[in-house]
Order: sequence, then C-alpha cells, then structure tokens
Amino acid sequence: MRTQVGIIGSGPSGLLLARLLHLQGIDTVIIESRSRDYVLGRIRAGVIEQGMADMLRQAQAGERMDREGLIHEGSNIAFDGRLERLDFPKHTNGKVVMVYGQTEITYDLMKAHIDEAGGIVHYDAPAVRVEGSDTDAPRIIYEQNGQRMELICDFVAGCDGYHGVARQSLPADKIKIFERTYPFGWLGILSDVPPVNKELIYANHERGFALCSMRSHTRSRYYVQCDTNDKVDNWTDDDFWDELRRRLPPEAADSVTTGPRLEMSITPLHSFVAEPMRSGRLFLAGDAAHIVPPTGAKGLNLAASDIYYLSRAILAYYKDRRTDLLDIYSETALSRVWKAIRFSWWYTSLLHKFDDDPMSRRLQIAELDYLVNSGAGRTALAENYVGLPYEKFE
Ligand code: APR
Ligand code: PHB
Repeated sequence: MRTQVGIIGSGPSGLLLARLLHLQGIDTVIIESRSRDYVLGRIRAGVIEQGMADMLRQAQAGERMDREGLIHEGSNIAFDGRLERLDFPKHTNGKVVMVYGQTEITYDLMKAHIDEAGGIVHYDAPAVRVEGSDTDAPRIIYEQNGQRMELICDFVAGCDGYHGVARQSLPADKIKIFERTYPFGWLGILSDVPPVNKELIYANHERGFALCSMRSHTRSRYYVQCDTNDKVDNWTDDDFWDELRRRLPPEAADSVTTGPRLEMSITPLHSFVAEPMRSGRLFLAGDAAHIVPPTGAKGLNLAASDIYYLSRAILAYYKDRRTDLLDIYSETALSRVWKAIRFSWWYTSLLHKFDDDPMSRRLQIAELDYLVNSGAGRTALAENYVGLPYEKFE
C-alpha cells in the first residue's frame, strides 16, 4: 500500500491533519490501534482556543461546535474564601474560548473525514514501528487481522499519543526528553447536571485544588486533586460531591447540583517534551511529542497548533516543492509548545496543594492576590489562557 502522508493515530491530531490535507487534494491513510467506538468513548478536555476553533472551521468540521459550543468570555479563580472573575476580552483585545468537548470534536472530524469525504482510517490496526524515516519513502509497519502490513509514504506523521510508537522510532541518540511529574492527580466526574456556574471555577483550597467545568448547559465536568495512588473505586458519587463542595467558596458550594456519574476517572499530572519533533520524513505532533498537566487545558490546543504548522509545511511541499517549512517545523512548533508547558506548570504550581507547609500556602495566596489586583497579572494569565498566537508564514 502507498499513500502520500501516512498518519499514525486517529485522535484529534491525526484526524485534523488528514482532514486539512484532504481538502487540499493530498492523500492520507490513518493507522489506528483501537476501534472507532473506543476512540469516541474517551472523555478528555473541553476548552478550545480561538486558533483551534478557527482550524476546525477551516477543516469544515466546525459547524456543530459553532451551534452547540459555549463561548466563554471569562473564568473564575477561588482562593482564600474569595471568588475573582477574569475577563478575557478585556485583557486580550477581544479574545474568548469555546467550551466544547474533545469527544465531540473527534466525532465531528470522523464524520467529515470518514463518513462524508471517504477518508481512509484502518481501525484495530496497531502500528509497530516506522522504518526508513531518513529515506524518501518512509514506511509504517502495522498489524491488521493478525497480518503484518506495510504502508509506504512520502511523509509519516506520528499522531499516536504519549504511548505511541512513532516517538520510539526516532533515533534514540538524537532525541532529548524533558519531564516532570507532579505528586498528585485529578479525580474527575462527568454528570448530567447543570453546571454550578456559567463559567469555569478554578479553586485553590487548603484541602487541594478543585475545578468546575462543563460540557453543556446540562452536563458538568468537575475535578478534585487526589493522591497519585488513589483509585476510582475508593470514591462513591457522594464522596466526590462532598469533597468538591468542601473546596469551593460557600455560595458556589451551596449551588452545586449533584447527580450520578456518567464517568469517573483519574488523570495523572505530567509535563513532558521530546525534542526535536522530527527526524527525516517522520514528524511528531500532539501528545506523541509533549504532555502538559491539564490545568489550563492546553493539551488539545497544542495538538491543534502542531497540526497548523505541520499541515502548512506539507502543503507547501506539494504545492511548490518547498522544504523550508518542513525544515523549521520542529523549531516553530516547539517554540509555542514550551510556552504552554511553562504556563501549565505555573498554573498547576499556583493552584495545587504540594505539601503541608503553611509557607507554601501563604506564597500561593500572595501570588493569587497580586495577580487579580494587577492589570499586568490579569493580562499575562488571560493571554496565555485564551491561547498565544500562531506564527504566520509567507
Ligand atoms: N498504532 C496506531 N495508533 C496508535 C498507536 C499505535 N501503536 N498507539 C496509540 N495510537 C492511537 C491511540 O489509540 C489514539 O487514538 O493514537 C491516538 C492518539 O490520540 P490522542 O492520545 O488523543 O493524542 P492526540 O491526537 O495528539 O490528541 C491531543 O492532547 O492533552 C491531550 O486530551 C488531549 O488527547 C488529546 C491530546
Ligand atoms: C475540562 O473541562 O475537562 C477541563 C477544563 C479546563 C481545564 C482542564 C479540563 O483547565
């Protein structure tokens, strides 16, 4: 089998890339280890920067997002018994974010790319490795129905997430790994109850961090900081709701509507970057190259900015035989990645409980108090939260 761009992984990165290339007449084949239903069953983040929303529109997969997604013009920080609102447009020249689940985005991209445009995705087909990335014809080796298969490509995009094989196919002596783990996780619940507030609430509390988020006016997503080794089985629905309410300011706690879980899971917190994001004709994008802790919701948005740079670089190659954008892909993508790695690390550090030292807590409260009372502080938070700009190319 042959294609122009072979893509490993049909998460948001892989699907968005395939869709953007398809609209420009470039052939792709996606190799995905799981089933379509499994991919759609994963509950992930839900805050979309304007840059990503624009890309989904450009991919002609943004119609339902524009109909059903919720535009948020601010978010709230709770600390020391206070609730402070941050106005995004005021501090960012009019920018906002869109609240719309990753699961819905994946669904919309699958519908547009596979069902409507006939794009090829091989499900239940785990890639094993990439060979020949230093040649003009790199190959994805994968398995399907117990058989070993080979997909010969002009380029390979490794969009196969943190546990994928693409990163492992880069020469080990050329790749540098940067990593930090945090001594806690997030226990999350998804429930069909109206959100406690019409905007998100990030809470710094002496018992630990809590976050009130949502997927719609009738579906809420809440999180509480938990121990790294905690297990979902240790928590009843009531335990979760009680702990959430303890960590919110009283007015918010009193208005939480509780209900049975649709899903409950634990997310570990981790920062990770692999550099460079390219070797020869193999390019990494999204979680395959970097992971951020979820505080600030940057993971999905970074996948989108990688695909912005990569899709433009590949298009320039097929249109004008230009290779300069391919050559600077890793550098340009990483420049934005590192700023989000920094922001997520900083926002995590500011809002979570790391230890029982009263000094740590006082320092956090002082910084939060400074932030909300400073125009510069509010601007720095708002412009990172709504998303730093994408670099434009001629
Ligand atoms: N062969 C084929 N597919 C694979 C392999 C493999 N060996 N290993 C993993 N995959 C698939 C996974 O099953 C998954 O569907 O690759 C896909 C990777 O998707 P995601 O993990 O969603 O990663 P990505 O598309 O980069 O999405 C960005 O950022 O912070 C996160 O929540 C955010 O998941 C989102 C991600
Ligand atoms: C979510 O809704 O899942 C979410 C929202 C904001 C975050 C992280 C996760 O910072």
